[in-house]
Amino acid sequence: MGEYLKLNILDKKYNDKNIFESRLLPFANSELKFSNLIKAELLTHGEDVKTVYDLTLSLNEKFDYLPGDTIGILAQNNLDEVNNLLDRLNLTGVADNEYCLSILEGTIKKNPTLPKHVPKNGSIRNIFVNNIDIRTPPKKLFLKNLLIHTSDSKDSDFLKHITSTLGTQDYMKFINNEGRTLLGLLNILSSCLPPVEIIIENSVNLQPRPYSISSSPLLNNKLNITFFVTEISKNVKGVCTGWLENIIKDKSDVKIPFYFRKPNNFRLALDFHVPLILIGTGTGIAPFIGFLKSLELGKPQHLEDIWLFHGFRYTDRDALYKNEISDYCKSVLTKYFACCSREDNKVYVQHKIKENGKGFIDLVMVKGASIFICGNLKTVVKDVKSTILKLLGTYGKLNEQDAKNYLAQLETNKKLLVDSW
Ligand SMILES: Cc1cc2nc3c(=O)[nH]c(=O)nc-3n(C[C@H](O)[C@H](O)[C@H](O)COP(=O)(O)OP(=O)(O)OC[C@H]3O[C@@H](n4cnc5c(N)ncnc54)[C@H](O)[C@@H]3O)c2cc1C
Ligand SMILES: NC(=O)c1ccc[n+]([C@@H]2O[C@H](COP(=O)([O-])OP(=O)(O)OC[C@H]3O[C@@H](n4cnc5c(N)ncnc54)[C@H](OP(=O)(O)O)[C@@H]3O)[C@@H](O)[C@H]2O)c1
Repeated sequence: MGEYLKLNILDKKYNDKNIFESRLLPFANSELKFSNLIKAELLTHGEDVKTVYDLTLSLNEKFDYLPGDTIGILAQNNLDEVNNLLDRLNLTGVADNEYCLSILEGTIKKNPTLPKHVPKNGSIRNIFVNNIDIRTPPKKLFLKNLLIHTSDSKDSDFLKHITSTLGTQDYMKFINNEGRTLLGLLNILSSCLPPVEIIIENSVNLQPRPYSISSSPLLNNKLNITFFVTEISKNVKGVCTGWLENIIKDKSDVKIPFYFRKPNNFRLALDFHVPLILIGTGTGIAPFIGFLKSLELGKPQHLEDIWLFHGFRYTDRDALYKNEISDYCKSVLTKYFACCSREDNKVYVQHKIKENGKGFIDLVMVKGASIFICGNLKTVVKDVKSTILKLLGTYGKLNEQDAKNYLAQLETNKKLLVDSW
């Protein structure tokens, strides 16, 4: 038992398949949907580029969304990691039995409540696979709670040290290295055997991962996302992108649970009537593919100027959606700027923006263009904004302060929109 939870393991297997009941859906704009993976396409090739996939997911019922909106995917934890963890905690034998979670009678904790992210009834395996984040760095309080379940004095001295004020530097080192995950931590503290309740009490929700939709709402029955596989270390991938990549490689027919997230302003109303300037680097191109597809399918009678600045490393390795963009150049794009950073010269999106500064500022200041930027916040977005600021001076004839005010005004009026994480 734990400080305030009691998990009663019953003598029968758990067979209720409704394992998603307790999954939290932050920023949800729809209920949970279960999609089939219709197609997975590897978009990058060769060395020195990220592994990027385009996934086509089935969408069984029509849902009103706009290009630029995002979905949340409910991934599972890595199954090998879960199995190792269950073994390490001596729980393998009962992991598939039904349990009942309740508040521990007589607990001294004030106002104890059952955790929202863990079902009241279920199996321990389901908790470890679907509900708790087993890779979240342990908090000092959790490590303190482990003390009474640690038998070896070397382990308990280590725990006492890293949870003390003096040991903060060593705590930081520990949680940034081998103590980063629950399994890593327990492998170091070999004499520590906490009951499962302590793990649940100190656990956090396995968060859904958001992804931009890279297809058009005008295409029924399916949607696309574009993601790169997060490489944490040599053999460790990100929870969600590693899970998705395993599904792709195993050709498994697992249903992918997702929901539509509440939209922000980074979306294209299909009846827009101003020029558009789209600036996307790496997977930041994803929402714009949805924009362009919608424009192509929507066949508006009068098309405004639409410029796309597209950042990637190598033309033949990671220029995402090269063929689709080439088609859009014939239909809806009025100007396309390929910005290739690792071939002859380092060409970034802001370099091409500067080269075309006069036309860019004319589109913004005279024709009222909307600017959309999707890329790394600290690098791409920062540099693009400072380039626009300079161009407002050069071609817009604004002094430094007026240019700053103008840019701020564009953001306030939602004429300059940024999506980043
Ligand atoms: C609004 C929004 C839209 C997004 N759109 C897209 C999109 O279109 N395409 C896309 O590819 N992504 C997108 N993302 C990012 C995406 O949601 C995920 O964050 C991303 O795919 C990584 O998820 P993951 O579960 O694979 O990695 P996680 O397991 O969550 O890992 C993420 C990071 O945490 C750290 N980390 C985790 N575990 C460890 C460990 N053991 N040791 C050390 N460090 C660790 C690493 O820095 C790692 O890179 C978006 C995010 C937001 C907020
Ligand atoms: N909805 C969303 O919020 C959403 C969706 C998708 C993507 N994104 C954003 O897009 C980013 C894409 O990341 P990624 O990993 O796919 O991209 P990436 O592959 O790391 O980079 C793409 C390109 O940007 C270049 N670049 C690096 N620094 C730059 C700078 N200061 N200015 C201009 N270009 C620069 C890179 O050049 P070099 O590597 O050669 O330096 C590379 O050619 C994410 O960080 C995320 O914030 C957001």
